[in-house]
Amino acid sequence: MLIFAHRGLSSDYPENTLLAFKMAFQKNIDGVEFDVQLTKDNIPVVFHDFKLNRIFGKKGYLSDYSYNELKNFNLPRNQYIPSLEEVLNIIPAKVMVNIELKGKNTAEIVFDTIENYVKKKKLHKNNLIISSFNLKELKTFYNLSKGKYKLGIIFESFPFGFLKFAKKIDAYSINPSIYFTTKKLVEKAHKNGLKVFVWTVNNKKNHQKAETMKVDGIFSDNPFRLKFV
Ligand code: G3P
Ligand code: MG
Repeated sequence: MLIFAHRGLSSDYPENTLLAFKMAFQKNIDGVEFDVQLTKDNIPVVFHDFKLNRIFGKKGYLSDYSYNELKNFNLPRNQYIPSLEEVLNIIPAKVMVNIELKGKNTAEIVFDTIENYVKKKKLHKNNLIISSFNLKELKTFYNLSKGKYKLGIIFESFPFGFLKFAKKIDAYSINPSIYFTTKKLVEKAHKNGLKVFVWTVNNKKNHQKAETMKVDGIFSDNPFRLKFV
């Protein structure tokens, strides 16, 4: 079972920051997950929420600000919102990367960016999974990449009828919430050649559930404490 640090080592460090990713790499994590959105001037950055209030206590949306403006929004431990490129630049070769297309219109720019890294041999395409709740972004990404990259469909509730869309985009995985994942679902996915990665597994009970169901991977905010919490 692969273990992904969800938004980096987000239980101990500010989520989706270079520090949160570096700390996960230092501890030899299998993979990291992060969310991509576009700034007002269309720069892909790594940030989860559409709104700024939870993280910065500010009104408004991330997409209301330019990349340069966002650089000045301070996060704890001297961190800031990193660009997609800044994050990709620090990914060790052997680490798996689950890039979540969180924002609208991210498919094309993420595709172009990773193509560049793969061509320059800075990333290996087999280590990348491009995932999204947003089926439109996934479809766009599929049309651009024509099966070159692994695609994961994220589900917020029980993934009824997942096979149809999975076939349409030649998906690699389904990524359901642990709360809606059953052994039967995992078996059905596996029978149809799909991996299953579940989120967000932050306690021992859900970790055991994931192991029992034989999922292929988990996303966790605290991957190194799962066996003890
Ligand atoms: O990709 C799994 C998980 O990250 C999806 O939920 O809201 O944490 O991006 P969220
Ligand atoms: Mg995410």
